[in-house]
Amino acid sequence: MTDLVLDPHALAKHLQQRHLIGGQLVAPSSGQSFEVASPATGALIALAAAGDAADVDAAVTSAATAQVAWAKVSARQRGKLIGACGALLDAHKEELARLVALETGKAIRTESRIEAGVLADIFHFYAGLGSELKGETIPFHPDMLTMTIREPIGVVGAIIPWNAPLLLMALKIAPALVAGNTVVVKSAEEAPFAVLRICELMATILPPGVFNLVSGMGPECGAPLVAHPKVGKVTFTGSVETGKIVARAAAEKLIPVTLELGGKSPMIVMDDCDLDRTVAGAVAGMRFTRMGQSCTAASRMYVQAGIHDRFVAALRAKVDAMLMGDPLDEKTDIGTIISRAQFEKVNAYIAIGKADGGTANECSALPTGDAFKPGYYVRPVIFTDLPGSSRVIREEIFGPVTAVIKFDDFEQALAAANDSEYGLAATLWTRDLKTALDGARRLQAGFVQVNQNLVVQPGLSYGGIKSSGLGKEASLEAMLDHFTTKKTVILNMT
Ligand code: NAI
Ligand code: MG
Repeated sequence: MTDLVLDPHALAKHLQQRHLIGGQLVAPSSGQSFEVASPATGALIALAAAGDAADVDAAVTSAATAQVAWAKVSARQRGKLIGACGALLDAHKEELARLVALETGKAIRTESRIEAGVLADIFHFYAGLGSELKGETIPFHPDMLTMTIREPIGVVGAIIPWNAPLLLMALKIAPALVAGNTVVVKSAEEAPFAVLRICELMATILPPGVFNLVSGMGPECGAPLVAHPKVGKVTFTGSVETGKIVARAAAEKLIPVTLELGGKSPMIVMDDCDLDRTVAGAVAGMRFTRMGQSCTAASRMYVQAGIHDRFVAALRAKVDAMLMGDPLDEKTDIGTIISRAQFEKVNAYIAIGKADGGTANECSALPTGDAFKPGYYVRPVIFTDLPGSSRVIREEIFGPVTAVIKFDDFEQALAAANDSEYGLAATLWTRDLKTALDGARRLQAGFVQVNQNLVVQPGLSYGGIKSSGLGKEASLEAMLDHFTTKKTVILNMT
């Protein structure tokens, strides 16, 4: 169905209890389902298909069959089809925005519409890269033509989380498909519907089986996908803990794996920064509008002593002025936390910070009205006065909780920023060119920005070091390195 469905409840009902396998919306073989509820009100949205190993096998078999013909479609033609998918998704961005706002609780104006709006950009970026799947010729011997050929891996298994499901799925499927692979996605149990709608739309353009999606729980549906003998590559975004489970299972089969995992991204603010710009960057970087549910959230803010108090006051004022409420209301700045489990985790960290002696500056106000009483709303917290050893400073919270830590000199801030198991992203705010360059070189992270805090951008490699992951996404290199294999060919002409 390609009609626009702007009522997200109706669209979720339409997608109820379905996977997408072989180009069709199909019921789970077990007949089992699970409830997906609104994180804002607790009300049931719809039932999602509870996939198991049998569904995964059907999806992978369909993908493996389709892959033979898909690899024979010329690379530029595959790109054209992916471009057509991008255009169709762009025409449907408002319905996707509303559905993802309903299921994730992310505010429509500040988060969900923006996420749905970038899909076309990612698809169009990769659509143009089909002709870049090039190999090399090598002057090995005068009588031998020696070359490398890039080939698709085969069937790619993609496991995605709930915090930005549309965006994070697009970053995996667009390059995998342009490179000639076919794909089976396992959606996150908290947010199965908007990504399934994308599949339904893409199925009107792509040959059946090229792209499949199963929904279900991690151990019952994600694990069989990683373990399936016909899956030749796994790409995963989620927690460090689950990432290690996935990597271990991939190692059993000796298949490559890309991991985009957690973060505890530092923000270093020097006395000489542009304060207004820096505070705006802190609000955006910490993703307060998304309740801090981002792997790159600026959750450790090291602020130089001379500017510390003014920075904290300005940041508090800005977050205080934000309106928390119904994710589908245009006035809302901040939506909800995704689930009860995350809600409890965030509250536990706030209690830990208080017990560690931190001052919890609580901002904004809980929404009023009985409808939102069961919702997963937490007042954003800006901690000050926390000891560096506090778990609030060391561990990923994935909630609207940040810590501002005072420092005197740059070396001290740099050492603290790098003293972390994570290395996903970092920002540095200064007007001094020498400090900027020094920090850019020495900050241990995959993505370092000075005086700005952009999210992932098509064309720029994105991915962490240390426990934050393995491999890159979002770029040409990501497609070549992670979704193709290189074959060496020698033609002996003597
Ligand atoms: P998770 O890592 O458990 O879930 C991510 C995906 O992995 C989901 O689709 C899930 O069903 C799947 N999965 C779970 N167990 C699996 C298994 N054994 N085999 C294969 N797939 C499996 O993350 P969860 O539980 O939703 O969140 C826990 C924490 O993870 C958060 O508090 C946050 O700190 C972090 N996280 C990080 C994300 C990121 O963008 N890097 C995204 C989501 C969570
Ligand atoms: Mg989990």
